[in-house]
Amino acid sequence: MSDNRIYIFDTTLRDGEQVPGCKLNTEQKIELAIALEKLGVDIIEAGFPISSPGDFKSVEEIAKAVGDVTVCALSRSVEKDIKTAAEALQYANRPRIHTGIGTSESHIKYKFRTTQDKIIERAVAAVKYAKSFVEDVEFYAEDAGRTDNVFLAQVLEAVLKAGATVLNIPDTTGYCLPEEYGAKIKYLRENVKGIDKAVISTHCHNDLGLATANSIAGIQNGARQIECTINGIGERAGNTSLEEVVMIMRQHAKMNFETAIQTKQLQNISHLVSDRMGMPVQPNKAIVGANAFAHSSGIHQDGVIKKRETYEIINPLDVGVDHSKIVLTARSGRAAIAYRAKEIGFNLTKDDLDIVYKNFLTVADTKKEVDDKDLQQIIVKKTSQVGASSR
Ligand code: KIV
Ligand code: ZN
Repeated sequence: MSDNRIYIFDTTLRDGEQVPGCKLNTEQKIELAIALEKLGVDIIEAGFPISSPGDFKSVEEIAKAVGDVTVCALSRSVEKDIKTAAEALQYANRPRIHTGIGTSESHIKYKFRTTQDKIIERAVAAVKYAKSFVEDVEFYAEDAGRTDNVFLAQVLEAVLKAGATVLNIPDTTGYCLPEEYGAKIKYLRENVKGIDKAVISTHCHNDLGLATANSIAGIQNGARQIECTINGIGERAGNTSLEEVVMIMRQHAKMNFETAIQTKQLQNISHLVSDRMGMPVQPNKAIVGANAFAHSSGIHQDGVIKKRETYEIINPLDVGVDHSKIVLTARSGRAAIAYRAKEIGFNLTKDDLDIVYKNFLTVADTKKEVDDKDLQQIIVKKTSQVGASSR
C-alpha cells in the first residue's frame, strides 16, 4: 500500500444517523452499508451498539451482510459498552472497536469531574479491554481540537502502548482553523513515541464550515484516515463531507493522495442517503447538489457551451452526473437559448433567435426558470409567424 493511500472511514450510519429526524431502521442501514461497501469505503462505522437494542441489531446485521470492508462499532471508555460493541461485531470479517474519552479541559473538569491522570488511566483500560476482543482498536480523544497538545500527546502515547491501532483526533466542536488542526497533527507525529505504528485519523465537524478544509490539512500533515459522511450529514452543522474530500484529492492530483472510492457512484449514493434519511441536500452543495453542474447566467452559459472547463473544474460524469445543465432564467443569454433550442429540436437562425430571445425575456421575467416546454411554446409561437428550421 502506498504511503499516500488515504483510508475513508464512513460514519454516515453512526455520527450521521445521530441527526434528529434521520433515524434509519435496520433494513435501511443494511441497504446503505452495502452501497457504501460498493462505493469503496474502507471502514463503515455501523453504529453505537450500547445505545439501543435496535442499533445493536443493525451493527450485527451489517457485519453479516457486508464482505471484507472493516465494520466499526462505537463505545465509550466503559466496559459494558466495549463488551456490547464486541458482541455486535462477532460476525464481522474485519471488526474494529472505536473507543475513547474526552480529553479537553472542559470535558475533564465539567463532564467527568476528574483529573488528567484518571483520564489516561480510563483510556488505557478501555483500549486494553477492547484489545481482549479484537485486534483493531481505534481510540478517539473527544474534543482533541480544543485539547492541549502536550496532554493529548501523553494520552496518545499511553493508548498506543496499550495497543491502539488507529488514533482519532476529533475536532468535536468544529472550532479549529485548518492551520491549527494541521499543526496539531504535525505536533503529534513529532512528539508521540511509536506513532508511526498507528494510523492517525481526522474527524472534523462543520460548525464553522471548516470540516473539509481541516480534514485536508490533517492529511497534508500526516493523517492517513478521514472520517466523513455522505452529504456531510452529522451532529449540528454536520461532519466532513465524503464527496468533498474525495474529489479534492482526485482533482488536486499533485497532492498525490489515493483513495479506493468509485467516484462515479457519488451522485447515486447521495440521493440514496438523502432519500432514506428524509434529509434534502441543499441545491448549492458541492459535488452532489442539484446546482453543482448547473449554469444560469449568460456569461457562464456562453463559456460552458464553448468549452465546459471554462466554468467547471470537475467532469460531471466523474461523479455520476450525466451532463452539465444549462438553466434558462432571465439572466440567460442568446447562446443558452440557441443551445437549449437545439437540444429540443430547433435550429434557430440568427433572426429567429433575436425574436425568440426577446419573447423569452418577457416570459423569463415572470418565472424563476423557463423550462423546455415554455421554450418550445415560445419558439412555436414565433415560427408560426416567421418559420424556423426544425431538425
Ligand atoms: O465528534 C466526536 O468527537 C465523535 C467521537 C465519538 C469520535 O463523534
Ligand atoms: Zn463526531
